[in-house]
Amino acid sequence: MRAGCSADVEYDGLRRQPAAEELLGPKELEPAVTRPSQPIVLDITVPVEGTDQRIEFNHLPTLRDRNSQHIPFSARYAARVVELKRDEYPRSNGYDAEWLLNGDMGPHPLWLLEDLANDLDLRPGMRVLDLGSGKGATSVFLAKEYGVQVWAADLWIEPSEAAAHIASQDVDGVVPVKAEAHALPFAQGFFDAIVCIDAYEYFGTADGYLAYLVQFLKPGGQLGVATPALRTEIRDLGYIPDHINKLVGWEAIAWHTADWWRFQWEITELVEVTAARLQESGWHDWLTWAQAVSEHRGSRDGALDMLEADQGEHLTFAILAARKPAA
Ligand SMILES: C[S@@+](CC[C@H](N)C(=O)[O-])C[C@H]1O[C@@H](n2cnc3c(N)ncnc32)[C@H](O)[C@@H]1O
Repeated sequence: MRAGCSADVEYDGLRRQPAAEELLGPKELEPAVTRPSQPIVLDITVPVEGTDQRIEFNHLPTLRDRNSQHIPFSARYAARVVELKRDEYPRSNGYDAEWLLNGDMGPHPLWLLEDLANDLDLRPGMRVLDLGSGKGATSVFLAKEYGVQVWAADLWIEPSEAAAHIASQDVDGVVPVKAEAHALPFAQGFFDAIVCIDAYEYFGTADGYLAYLVQFLKPGGQLGVATPALRTEIRDLGYIPDHINKLVGWEAIAWHTADWWRFQWEITELVEVTAARLQESGWHDWLTWAQAVSEHRGSRDGALDMLEADQGEHLTFAILAARKPAA
């Protein structure tokens, strides 16, 4: 620790993080504080469940025993180590990280949706089905960012639970619905768009599923999917990589390449594929989110072992968009 560069940082906002005194010790802290309100930048490396996170704080240093006004760091700042604000996802930056983390069911849903939406044309007033919407973060995002009406359809999460999660976000136009993806309770041709974030892999890989789903789109309607993907088909690898197998087992056979999806959809002639690409940042985004979830919960996220072992070799996301032909 360089003299003049330490501070009163305490990480007791999260139980497993050490207090500043544990990190620095009073003898190192004391010479660092030369003036009562000296602005400083503290640059420190904190081990988070085996992952070193480099963090920077800019604030006023004080010493607890010298300053009756001393406010513990944890009371002044949300003690978040993993940064979830990203230049690449300006719309997602507007959403409260605690709310998103409380609704966690997989990778960062808004980052995936914000990227996918670049390949969709969503306009105010459109009817959108958010299929496999979980606790509803993506439905809120769709309604707020694009002014669309959203039917938030999910199987595992009860509509009341989704509604409670959505309620804090001050948004109209989201209707939570209990629905099984193969028995959707909607009229044919009802939706302008169907969006599916990190859920299609559970039900959408069967050959007949696209034909079933597009019935619910208007002519000219759009389908957008973001789904875990591998850079090489498991069929071509000839095996499921160990670190992936350990977490998801055989279910990884539903994690296809973008090219697989393009062919699977195009060959039907039921839709025109307008995008089928792998995310460059997919693995890294997923890792960042899993680290943030670990930090938030105070226990290691189940996906971290897999993601750390992968290092972006196999894992990312496929971003898929298609349009039903106009009548
Ligand atoms: C990993 S979670 C993702 C939830 C949400 N989209 C998100 O990104 O936070 C997968 C979701 O798919 C839904 N799902 C899985 N199988 C389904 C099915 N057969 N019908 C409808 N929803 C299904 C689950 O209920 C679950 O909420």
